[in-house]
Amino acid sequence: MIPLILSGGAGTRLWPMSRQLFPKQFLPLADPQSTLLQATLARLPQGDDLGRPVVVCNEDHRFLVAEQLRAMGVQPARIILEPVGRNTAPAVALAALEQVQDGADPVLLVMPADHVIADVDAFRRTLSTARMRAEAGDLVTFGIVPTEPHTGYGYIRAGHGTEEAGVLPVLEFVEKPDQQTAEGYLAGGDYFWNSGMFVFRASVFLQELETHAPDILATCRKALESAQADMDFLRVDRDAFATCRSDSIDYAVMEKTGRAVVVPLRAGWSDVGSWASLWAVGARDADGNLTQGDVITVGARNCYVHGNQRLVAAVGVEDLVIVETADAVLVMHKDRDQEVKEVVARLKSRG
Ligand code: GDD
Ligand code: MG
Repeated sequence: MIPLILSGGAGTRLWPMSRQLFPKQFLPLADPQSTLLQATLARLPQGDDLGRPVVVCNEDHRFLVAEQLRAMGVQPARIILEPVGRNTAPAVALAALEQVQDGADPVLLVMPADHVIADVDAFRRTLSTARMRAEAGDLVTFGIVPTEPHTGYGYIRAGHGTEEAGVLPVLEFVEKPDQQTAEGYLAGGDYFWNSGMFVFRASVFLQELETHAPDILATCRKALESAQADMDFLRVDRDAFATCRSDSIDYAVMEKTGRAVVVPLRAGWSDVGSWASLWAVGARDADGNLTQGDVITVGARNCYVHGNQRLVAAVGVEDLVIVETADAVLVMHKDRDQEVKEVVARLKSRG
């Protein structure tokens, strides 16, 4: 099994810590000892026949990735460099195509570089079930029991009564439904959230891509034909890849395939996509505050206060996110953490 780490996202909802040149996966956001990318690699099962990891990222981040792997003693099989981001379907296609080039057909474990999983042992146990199904030709997803009608996730309707414990057929996969639909799914009870991790044979994914998004497959093939190898890096052809349609693996393949199964994952999974989700998984004090850096709180409750360059003091406030950096300070209500995207959009439009 080859770990395939997707590390090309921008992480705009974690502005101002997460920036274009330094996105969230490269930051020690959930744990001061390791970045999200490093934690992703550290949770891989140890000691069995696991292959060296492949990382797919934007070429601007090549040294960040190489250095963070080196710092933890991980030698990658490849760091595939995208000249532009085209979302996750092309990213996975590039890696899968490269793996089958010499006639091999390994199982790929696709992992986003920006998740937190509290119970690593439970994750590894669930992964071994997933791996067996992937070896047999299934596209395996990990299902998270939903706790709210979140519209930023994929929803998986699972069937009942399979012979094998811990594996359910996928009856329907719906990526990012609207609020009303998500509420209906939550009330219905037989839906999981899609964790965004997948396990499948490279050839099975490529066959499904051929069926459901042949243009993406063809463009990625072309972009790899003239790719340039440079030490651990593989630079994908800029002109060819730039013409690729941007689409996620969820829309391009998972919503359409008939070969998906879901393995429920109960391991304290969290997509630390926003400040409030980081607060929710972090170690909070008796007043419910999560503080990082040089911070003093007096009578503050349930706040996330992050001091990056200067001392930050919060007095008598509740449910706030306060993030201080050298050139920007964010103060916002914790319930409105999705709207940071709006700040980033306005900053971009300023040029
Ligand atoms: N290499 C590369 N290139 N990686 C990318 C790109 C890209 O163009 N775009 C995104 N990624 C990486 C991100 O860094 C992240 O680690 C992962 O791929 C998933 O992308 P997100 O942009 O974070 O996806 P999402 O959170 O909106 O949705 C996915 O994850 C949810 C769970 O967190 C979907 O799989 C949903 O169905 C799922 O519920
Ligand atoms: Mg995400």
